[in-house]
Amino acid sequence: MTAPANVTLIRDRAGKTPIEAAIVLGSGLSGIGERLADKTVIPYADLDGFPGGGVSGHGRELLIGTLSGRRIAILTGRQHYYEHGDAAAMRIPLETMAGLGAETLLLTNSAGSLVPDVKPGEVMMLTDHINFSGTNPLIGEQGDARFVNMVDAYDPGLRDTAKAVATEEGVDLSEGVYMWFSGPTFETPAEIRLAISLGAHAVGMSTVPETILGRFLGLKVWACSSITNMGAGMAAETISHTQTKQMALIGAEKLERLITGLVGRI
Ligand code: HPA
Repeated sequence: MTAPANVTLIRDRAGKTPIEAAIVLGSGLSGIGERLADKTVIPYADLDGFPGGGVSGHGRELLIGTLSGRRIAILTGRQHYYEHGDAAAMRIPLETMAGLGAETLLLTNSAGSLVPDVKPGEVMMLTDHINFSGTNPLIGEQGDARFVNMVDAYDPGLRDTAKAVATEEGVDLSEGVYMWFSGPTFETPAEIRLAISLGAHAVGMSTVPETILGRFLGLKVWACSSITNMGAGMAAETISHTQTKQMALIGAEKLERLITGLVGRI
């Protein structure tokens, strides 16, 4: 099966109305699925090229339904480059979203903060990214479309709307540059110092390949991090995946409000 076959299967189960946006949820951020009305749940296992076994804290279902009056899809879990070394692992899921009509892609993740004032439990909207992984999901792609312009990869209009929603919702939304490390290890303190010196404000192991694929597919992209820890060496705490999952819940509630408001205005 391929993306078109996925599109057929999803339309058969969830109806033919096009979706307007797709949301990808990061570790521990699955609560927003509860807000969907008219929900159809499709296990990833029924779809071709969707994440398999995965990583604890990530869901394995595609949700189709209505949020803030808009028909959307929620991918409750993603695949990461570190799971198998395939940076393009989310290509078929994202092609499927475009095939269902999505024009907007909202990405969420858990990340480490490099800004002393931006603490765990806070949310940081991406203004830009640094791809520090040494790879790219479009390696091997043929044709001129592969030369994607990455200026304003994170859509300025969606960012402005998110800021307005944050103000209305009383969410303290910071902004910054996200640096993609391959993982699965957390960074060393020396790598964190390097990231800061290069202009990054947050570090994480996801999102950037999806942003690249989303822009390649012509989607408007918006992304936001739930800060789960300070970068390695910046605080006394020991960084762990358990801590990531626990702290993500605090930022998740803020992200849910932001996304609910944003979706209503796309
Ligand atoms: N580094 C990389 N990925 C992460 C971190 C981090 O500190 N926290 C959550 N995801």
